[in-house]
Amino acid sequence: MRIFVDSADASMIKTALRYGYVYGVTTNPTLLRRADVRADQLEQLVNHAFEHGAREMHVQTYALDQTTMVRQGAELAALDPERVVIKIPATPDGYAAARQLVAHDIRVTLTAVYTSRQALLAQSVGASYIAVYLGRMRDAGNDPFVAVQQMQSLIVAQAAPLSVLAASIRAPEELELLGTIGVAAATIAPHVMERLLDSPATDAAAAAFAADAAAIQ
Ligand code: G3P
Repeated sequence: MRIFVDSADASMIKTALRYGYVYGVTTNPTLLRRADVRADQLEQLVNHAFEHGAREMHVQTYALDQTTMVRQGAELAALDPERVVIKIPATPDGYAAARQLVAHDIRVTLTAVYTSRQALLAQSVGASYIAVYLGRMRDAGNDPFVAVQQMQSLIVAQAAPLSVLAASIRAPEELELLGTIGVAAATIAPHVMERLLDSPATDAAAAAFAADAAAIQ
C-alpha cells in the first residue's frame, strides 16, 4: 500500500518521510490554511517534500473554475512532472479540468469522492486516483467500507488504471481493513500516523532483545 502523510506542515512532513514507509505527501487548501502556508509558498513546500524523500506529492488546485484550475494544475505539475499529482475536487469544473490536464499527460487525483458513480466518472476522465473521505462518510451516517468496497469492485470490473486513495482516516486500524479489500493508497494525518506502529507485544519483544543483546556483549 502506498501510504501518504496528509499535511502541509513542513516539519510534520519531514518527520513522516523519515519513517521509511511513507511514500509521499498529500495536501489541500484546508491543510495549507491550518499550517499557515500561503498559495505562493506552495512551490517551496513541494520542493521541501522532495528534498526529504517524497516519491509523490499530491497538490490541490485552489481555483473554482475550469480554466484557472487547468492553469494552476499545469503550473504545479511543472514543478516536477514525474512526481507531482494534481488534486482537483470532483465538481463539474473539476472533471472538465481533470480531462484537460490528463490530455497533457499530467496525473490527476479527483478528491472528495463519495460515490461509485463519481469513481466511474473519474475513470472516464483518466484520473489516476480518487481520494475518498472515509471519516466524513461515517460522520454522515454511512458505512465507508461498504462504499470503498463497491469502488474497488468497480475498478477491478472495469480493469481501470485508477487507485482509491483512502483519506479522512481517523483510526490506525482502518488501514488493515482497507488493505484487505485491495485499496492501493491511503493518506493519513500525522496524529493518526503516530499511532500506526502501536503494538505492545512488539515493544515487549524489542525490550527483551535489547536486554539479551546487552547480556551477550
Ligand atoms: O484528506 C482529507 C482530509 O484532510 C480530511 O480529513 O479528518 O478532516 O475529515 P478529516
